[in-house]
Amino acid sequence: MTLEAFVTLFLVQISYLRCPFLGEANGIRVFKVSTPRVAVVRKIVECKESRIGKQPIPVPSNVTLTMSSQDLKVKGPLGELAITYPREIKLDKEDSGILRGVVYRKEASLTLTDNMVVGVSKGFEKRLQLVGTGYRATVEGKDIVLNLGFSHPVRMTIPDGLQVKVEENTRIAVSGYDKSAIGQFAASIRKWRPPEPYKGKGVKYADEIVRRKEGKAGKKK
Ligand SMILES: *[C@@H]1O[C@H](CO)[C@@H](O)[C@H](O)[C@H]1NC(C)=O
Repeated sequence: MTLEAFVTLFLVQISYLRCPFLGEANGIRVFKVSTPRVAVVRKIVECKESRIGKQPIPVPSNVTLTMSSQDLKVKGPLGELAITYPREIKLDKEDSGILRGVVYRKEASLTLTDNMVVGVSKGFEKRLQLVGTGYRATVEGKDIVLNLGFSHPVRMTIPDGLQVKVEENTRIAVSGYDKSAIGQFAASIRKWRPPEPYKGKGVKYADEIVRRKEGKAGKKK
């Protein structure tokens, strides 16, 4: 099967671009324009494949894809994710297990599917590092408890589907199958004390480079 796809589009040619856009249905874009400016043209458009469409997403045997029209379910040993795609994307699963997507519009993206397949089969991880004397983290049951120099420790419930591990009291690893949930929880931990720019104290992403400023006693120009 070739990746090339052809769509027939009815393009409303307009010479006046400041017309209010009224909507789109079945590929026909509707603008409010005065009648003499409108001409309807039938045109064959060769669709460009998406970046990921060109490099099809390999689906490992431990991942099951269920497709029904625009809904896609991705199930793997680590969990299950679902997404509803916009009409501009057409998905196909080949017998070989390769998922191909054809994007009928430039802005649409298949990146999510890639993250979903990797998420449910291998998982993702986001690492944080505590920097500061006495700053420490521990996992207690379903909570992560953070000592960040406040009068009380901060206690956060670890969301379902995520795992949190702490090494040497200061290195936190948030892992799971849902990349965006991991990112959100890691960000909410960091938000308690984002690294300050003088000594770099706080909660930073392990790969984050904190830009340092000169302290108050720093040299003058
Ligand atoms: C699923 O399969 C992939 C590819 O073979 C493998 O890398 C991954 O470890 C498997 N996942 C689990 C949880 O066994």
